[in-house]
Amino acid sequence: MKTLDVVLGLQWGDEGKGKIVDVLAERYPVVARFQGGPNAGHSIHFGDTSFVLHSVPSGVFRKGAINIIGNGVVLDPTIFREECEAIEALGVPVRERVRIARRAHLILPTHKMLDAADEQSLGKGKIGSTLKGIGPAYSDKTGRNGLRVGDLFTPDFQERYATLKRKHAARLSQYDFTAPFSLETAEAQWMKDIEYIKSFEIVDCEYETNALLDEGKAILAEGAQGSMLDVDFGSYPFVTSSSTACAGACTGLGVAPGRIGKVYGVFKAYCTRVGSGPFPTELNDATGEQLRQKGHEFGATTGRPRRTGWLDIPALKYAVMISGVTDLIMMKADVLDGFDTVKVACGYRVDGKSCDRVPYDVYADIEPVYKEFKGWKGNLGACRSEDDLPREFKEYVAYIEEALGLPVRILSLGPDRAQTLIRK
Ligand code: IMO
Ligand code: MG
Repeated sequence: MKTLDVVLGLQWGDEGKGKIVDVLAERYPVVARFQGGPNAGHSIHFGDTSFVLHSVPSGVFRKGAINIIGNGVVLDPTIFREECEAIEALGVPVRERVRIARRAHLILPTHKMLDAADEQSLGKGKIGSTLKGIGPAYSDKTGRNGLRVGDLFTPDFQERYATLKRKHAARLSQYDFTAPFSLETAEAQWMKDIEYIKSFEIVDCEYETNALLDEGKAILAEGAQGSMLDVDFGSYPFVTSSSTACAGACTGLGVAPGRIGKVYGVFKAYCTRVGSGPFPTELNDATGEQLRQKGHEFGATTGRPRRTGWLDIPALKYAVMISGVTDLIMMKADVLDGFDTVKVACGYRVDGKSCDRVPYDVYADIEPVYKEFKGWKGNLGACRSEDDLPREFKEYVAYIEEALGLPVRILSLGPDRAQTLIRK
């Protein structure tokens, strides 16, 4: 019996999940997204070109792959149509490769308006949301008001849409805010784009995933965002609105926990975060700027400069614990090439006391306790085997493995598929 294997971001998103799913997709006939929506930006590079996926799973560029947009996802019809058309323009038969869960929820134009209104009203305390309507769409899901992909096929869909829009309008009227776009224009486009969605294969995701596993087809579940943005375990309220941890793959695809096999935890060799919230190892100095420039740390979805800092072991340990990670995958190690020293937070001092846990209080005064490593010379991006790796870099990796009690199975040393070292 084949298993559902899961790829998760262990930090604050943007760990490089897209590249890894694209690399691993070779071994998986099925790739599925289980949570989040177009707040995700998963970049895939081929040769000189790159492509950013928002809603479509990163297996879409592999011939013959089945890509499922799971019930746990929130789908924006306009972004989805634009994305699919761009994929099709590359000669990829997107309709043959993508299936959509009937139970996935829809993002309405008014969800995006509410997201903007919420953020404006929070002022300095804003979450730094991607403004894609994610929070309001998930609120309607759990508040039992949402509209689902399956509802597009019901005769009273327009009435239900109008009812929900009226509820949103009542809420919006309580805000003093500047609308970031024209609702009429967005709505007219949205109505056309729901027809586009209807031209795809719509499935009962839970039956589909279980049947595929029974047929002997392994599924790779592609997480979006990161563990530290999980609605339960992240730095609430500076989080996204879905379950980004491994458990989310079960509810987001209708697969039982016992069917989960490997849990790949993806992390960058340093840290980044976009949006607000605690970031203990953040570097607001020239080193932070160097990481941002060398790592091209600007948002794939919003273009915002990402906050940067050193690796954070307590946060990684926490993410590994919550999701039962079995294999680690280190990304963008090449970005650290040429630094004289590389630091890792191996613990914290919280309000002056030594601590190895992620604190509940997002306003706590957290001071990282660093371990320093000697930097390495040379170009990791050119290494093609374990023997090519500089000794100092191997020491850095070995320390992380020991601290987390897990092997780093894949080292990504650059954006290209070829710059990936799969280790014994
Ligand atoms: P991928 O999948 C990084 C962040 C936003 C904000 C918070 C809430 O590419 O790693 P939301 O729009 O979800 O309500 O925003 O979460 N965020 C991400 N940060 N990568 C992402 O996705 C993110 N998706 C949301 O910046 O702080
Ligand atoms: Mg991103």
